Amino acid sequence: MLRQLPQVDDPNLLTAAIPFADAGVYRLSDGCALVQSVDFFTPIVDDPATFGSIAAANALSDLYAMGATPLTALNLIGFPDCLDQQLLVEILRAGALKVQEAGAVIVGGHTVGDDEPKYGLAVTGIVDPARMISTVGARPGDVLILTKPLGTGILATALKGEVITETDMVDAITGMTTLNKAAAEAMRQVEVHACTDITGFGLLGHAVEMAEASDVGMVIDSAALPVYPQVAELAAMGLVPVGSYRNREHYLPNLVNRQEVAVELIDILADPQTSGGLLIAIPAEQRKVLMAALQERQTAGYVIGQVVDEHAGKIRVE
Ligand code: CO
Repeated sequence: MLRQLPQVDDPNLLTAAIPFADAGVYRLSDGCALVQSVDFFTPIVDDPATFGSIAAANALSDLYAMGATPLTALNLIGFPDCLDQQLLVEILRAGALKVQEAGAVIVGGHTVGDDEPKYGLAVTGIVDPARMISTVGARPGDVLILTKPLGTGILATALKGEVITETDMVDAITGMTTLNKAAAEAMRQVEVHACTDITGFGLLGHAVEMAEASDVGMVIDSAALPVYPQVAELAAMGLVPVGSYRNREHYLPNLVNRQEVAVELIDILADPQTSGGLLIAIPAEQRKVLMAALQERQTAGYVIGQVVDEHAGKIRVE
């Protein structure tokens, strides 16, 4: 489909050569490039303020993954006429506070009538092109660090099915409303080879993308994978989102030992995340420095695997 669009041939579009870039990066001058991304979706929780915070943290996440500093944001809103406008006010207020926490400002937005509420943001930041981080650059020997647990897709599915309440998923809500800002600041303390954020394609999909973009393989240590409470039980009950099956179809061929991997583990690996953590590839000797920098900022960091020089573009789970 993308091939049918006109080709962009602009030397300032720095992400043209980066497969699966989290945001578009456009050079303005030698030391400064614009970084832009957009995301919006239907509510994944019932509380409007929680939804607003999650949507904003999620949209800003792509900027953090690329090492950018957020500057501005535009609200994108779909809202039914029949719903109480106060709900919209609460969504927007929480979103604005989250943008403020990121040190950025909302400069405008647009609302359309819609059958179902939708909210998200178009976000803009800046980065020094020399310090831009992307999916390209992971090297054999690197360790892989993930900064948030997994399982938000399964929890959101269980919430929608009224199997759990928002109180049951408080850890995941805290995770999803947390900006990747502190994790990105910690990244600046070390020599990062590659980074992406974990969202709709799940850990599996985003790890495969980084492996392909960097032309390396990855080994993921299943015992080290952090998962939010109750996720395994809910997945066993079949509360697995549709997006998880799309991810399996698309990315399981890139799991070299898929026959040996238990379905319970695939549920976690393929689970689409909302406002997930950063997946960071750093030289092994920098691991302690990054872990200390994360801890200093009260941010979690889980060493979940390593980069290898076998099976390029593919993942092995042990
Ligand atoms: Co992303």
